[in-house]
Amino acid sequence: MTISSGGKDQIQVCIAKTDAEKQALQNLRTQVLCKELGFEVAQHYDEVDKRSVHLVAYRMDGEALNKEPLGTLRIFRGIPGQMVIGRVGVTRNCRGLGIGKKMIAFAENLIFTSDEYKDIETIIIHAYFPSRDFYLGIGYKESGDVHIEQGEPHVYVVKNREEWVSS
Ligand SMILES: CC(C)(COP(=O)(O)OP(=O)(O)OC[C@H]1O[C@@H](n2cnc3c(N)ncnc32)[C@H](O)[C@@H]1OP(=O)(O)O)[C@@H](O)C(=O)NCCC(=O)NCCS
Repeated sequence: MTISSGGKDQIQVCIAKTDAEKQALQNLRTQVLCKELGFEVAQHYDEVDKRSVHLVAYRMDGEALNKEPLGTLRIFRGIPGQMVIGRVGVTRNCRGLGIGKKMIAFAENLIFTSDEYKDIETIIIHAYFPSRDFYLGIGYKESGDVHIEQGEPHVYVVKNREEWVSS
């Protein structure tokens, strides 16, 4: 499945609500995070998932939403004042079209504008090192050293409320 260039206008980010949507986003994670990147930890819908908000990117087919997920991430509370974004993945043949950026912007908007999260000062992402520049490019800053987790280099990246610009 491909989307045309300029296709980001066809992309809609939604909060997954139904079991079918959650199963579909798990399938996408299995493909991207487990099979492609080798992160076995992402192969099950876990306890953190049960208390997370899950975002899914879909493509518009004309007026209708095509429910095959193209991207996903989860949002959950970390230490007090911190919100974590994790399990970020975009299907391989749809990368570079703005889907990741659009999902992160949706997540930031949700976190920094809703009453539910008014205590949140910082978003933190435990970034797989090869994706670091994606996050730096959308306003995140590195926090701490590069370290190995699950056999792969990772680095924390953060964005504070006062650095957030609505998009
Ligand atoms: C990292 C990932 C989520 C980015 O999603 P995406 O939809 O391809 O990214 P976008 O198209 O929104 O890119 C936004 C910008 O970041 C840039 N970018 C994307 N991935 C990048 C990367 N790995 N390194 C540097 N820049 C990157 C794009 O070129 C684009 O730049 P522009 O705005 O100047 O045109 C996606 O590549 C992916 O799923 N990778 C595999 C899984 C993964 O690494 N997940 C992250 C785990 S922490």
